[in-house]
Amino acid sequence: MQITATSPIEQLTVSQEPYYLDVAELLPKALTAYEARIPILLRGPTGCGKTRFVERLVWEIDQRRAAAGNHQPMPLMTVACHEDLTSVDLVGRYVLRGEETIWVDGPLTTSVRNGGVCYLDELSEARRDTTVVVHAVTDYRRVLPIERLGTVLSAHESFLLVASHNPDRGLGIRRMRESTSQRFMTFDFDYPEPDAEAEVLVAEAGVDADLAQMLVKFACGLRVQQESVGSVLPSTRLLVHAAQLIAHGADPLDACELAVVRTVAVDPTEQQGMMELATALLPR
Ligand SMILES: Nc1ncnc2c1ncn2[C@@H]1O[C@H](COP(=O)(O)OP(=O)(O)OP(=O)(O)O)[C@@H](O)[C@H]1O
Ligand SMILES: [Mg+2]
Repeated sequence: MQITATSPIEQLTVSQEPYYLDVAELLPKALTAYEARIPILLRGPTGCGKTRFVERLVWEIDQRRAAAGNHQPMPLMTVACHEDLTSVDLVGRYVLRGEETIWVDGPLTTSVRNGGVCYLDELSEARRDTTVVVHAVTDYRRVLPIERLGTVLSAHESFLLVASHNPDRGLGIRRMRESTSQRFMTFDFDYPEPDAEAEVLVAEAGVDADLAQMLVKFACGLRVQQESVGSVLPSTRLLVHAAQLIAHGADPLDACELAVVRTVAVDPTEQQGMMELATALLPR
């Protein structure tokens, strides 16, 4: 079967152990959810480790399967959802190939058919008439009706649907239909507490522990400031970027300005205020 290229799709296997610091001890719970084949919804802000968590989860499942004698790594199919995504994009369509009309599986169908994890990133961005397509495959039925083929596909025994949702802290919030959200077991994510976030920076960028602590202190200060005015919070991802710039020789203040301050603030006065905080906390 072939895969359509109508929506941003990635299908891979996880060949190396992804680094994931399981601060909230969610991995064992997610593994239990997988054993029970209960779909998982990851809820949390941008850049807090949701995608990395899914990669690590798939790797952990692979380890368990290998211990049971199955050395075939599971596919991880990722679809970035958006408001123009249709159920046809997910399920599949007929396309013309030369003289022939052939059926091409969409990413959800590919995953349901072949097994593994299908990760619908930012599912709440998709329209409600698109999200209902996952309903039959995320409840006890575990089937995907394919209207255009007139068939109902039973999910592969290893199939699990994982979705993510960024609640957006009240700004332009898009709520998921209750009948969709209640098909999932929900895991809440947030930026790690300071020591853990510093540990992530050391592991991800190779900076020393003291510098990592200073970067985290800066981020925490910034988060308090930004939270109080309802503005964008700097994510762990941005801190990793700053740490990576420093590891590649950048001055710490320049790294914070480039990777963090300019990303979260547009207004020059706001940026200046943030740089004052950085100057007070970081070495030159
Ligand atoms: N607990 C963690 N363990 C390891 N790395 C982490 C952790 N939390 C955050 N990171 C780091 O943060 C970066 C961003 O994580 P990731 O891409 O998984 O975020 P996300 O929550 O999926 O964001 P988005 O909602 O924007 O897709 C990763 O590249 C990783 O370096
Ligand atoms: Mg992600």
